[in-house]
Amino acid sequence: MASGNGKLLRRCTTNGSPSACGHSWEPRHKMPKSTGESNQARSWNLSMLWFFTGAVIVFHLFAVFVVLPLYKDGGNRSNFPFPASSCSGNEQRTETSVLKEDEISVSSTSGSIPISMDSVINLDHGDPTMYEKFWRQTGNAAELVIPGSQTMSYFSDVANLCWFLEPEFAAEIRRLHRLVGNAVAVPDRYIIVGTGSSQLFQAALFALSTSPEVFGHGGGGRPLPVVSSVPYYSSYPAATDLLQSGLFRWAGDARSLKEGDKPYIEVVCSPSNPDGLLKTASVSSNSGKVIHDLAYYWPQYTAITSPADHDLMLFTASKCTGHAGMRLGWAIVKNREVAKRMVKFIEVSTIGVSKDSQLRAAKILKTVSDQYELEAAEDFTKLFHFARKTMRDRWQTLRLVIAASDAFSLPVFQPQYCNFMKENTLPFPAFAWLKCERDIDDCESFLRQKHKILTRGGKHFGADTKHVRISMLDRVETFDMFIERLSSIDL
Ligand SMILES: Cc1ncc(COP(=O)(O)O)c(C=O)c1O
Repeated sequence: MASGNGKLLRRCTTNGSPSACGHSWEPRHKMPKSTGESNQARSWNLSMLWFFTGAVIVFHLFAVFVVLPLYKDGGNRSNFPFPASSCSGNEQRTETSVLKEDEISVSSTSGSIPISMDSVINLDHGDPTMYEKFWRQTGNAAELVIPGSQTMSYFSDVANLCWFLEPEFAAEIRRLHRLVGNAVAVPDRYIIVGTGSSQLFQAALFALSTSPEVFGHGGGGRPLPVVSSVPYYSSYPAATDLLQSGLFRWAGDARSLKEGDKPYIEVVCSPSNPDGLLKTASVSSNSGKVIHDLAYYWPQYTAITSPADHDLMLFTASKCTGHAGMRLGWAIVKNREVAKRMVKFIEVSTIGVSKDSQLRAAKILKTVSDQYELEAAEDFTKLFHFARKTMRDRWQTLRLVIAASDAFSLPVFQPQYCNFMKENTLPFPAFAWLKCERDIDDCESFLRQKHKILTRGGKHFGADTKHVRISMLDRVETFDMFIERLSSIDL
């Protein structure tokens, strides 16, 4: 860089004048003094005219044939000249790109409480603000002060495979899983921390698609299909295809994947976002790798029937304790090589994960577990009891409203015994997967345009437009106003 700048500088100062660069052009703009000079100037002007005309034509051709089609298509990336090796079928890419375009849903009402009866009610995101009430009542138990001199180094635990994982946080993760019994997190399982489980999802795609087994299986030369059964979590397609990786490519519904010995990655989200059902892998082939997204496998949402013990499991603080803004998730991984590649991904993309957030998360998880170890603690001071009661009350209220109308329907769930709560329980999912009945074909538009209720339409989840996903995790004020508005819909 230094030598490049040096060259430029020298070229501009050869005349010894600070404006030497300007001087070399100046005579061409001066009036000619003699006829010879005048002819020379005329032919120069003509050349310039041809040059500019040519440039204008080239510019127009570029605008008409390259730029305009992109705009007309709403920036659909399928029209970009990707190298053939990074594309796996245009039809699929077009569908994915539409989803990606529509995925941008942050609006002026995101995260806010509706203030009047005709305000927009935004239940599009799964923003877990319902939990604020719980954490407000814990007083200073979950408070943390970090002195200016702390958490300054990049490194947390260099002896650990995941060198940026704070040991206190790792210990509290293992303790919480032991307490709840929802996952095997014994010492020989690798824990990897990520900036939200969103980052870990990408790290997992990278780790699984670069595994030597996959390459040896004929997966080396093309992007690996990534599938999930419909309705799938709406972020999977966008997160998979964002960087147009040559390693993996979103391929839609797991059930449409033709079984064979070709490698693939299946994402299993259980309980499922958006519909709350428990899921297992749809594709049963030895050449597949599975990512288990267990963001909602906590007792406030579903019965804990056994400790999950899959090869690669993802969890997030966002839906466990409600601290989405902390941006922390963790993966529990069996295979050392897969864990190493996930760590490599995070190392290269963000050189680790916020230590401040990890220390705060350790304190939050510790507060949760401590409360369960206190014999005399009241139920409302225990996170999972508080959250499950809130979810149960909300679902009961919602079901009453839905039962009174023939315009909508909800999935029907079966009770199961919860080992943690020690009783039979129905699922109380974080989202209501609402179906518009009768002649409402586009439920999302119907609720948005006619009733100012923002939801996420079924097509984002690979499903039909009669379905919408509605967050059940918002603040009480928002939820109550939603219920009131929904009950007033008269078809
Ligand atoms: C199923 C599922 N997985 C992952 C995430 C992302 O979680 P995080 O906030 O940790 O990135 C969400 C968030 O809504 C989710 O619903």
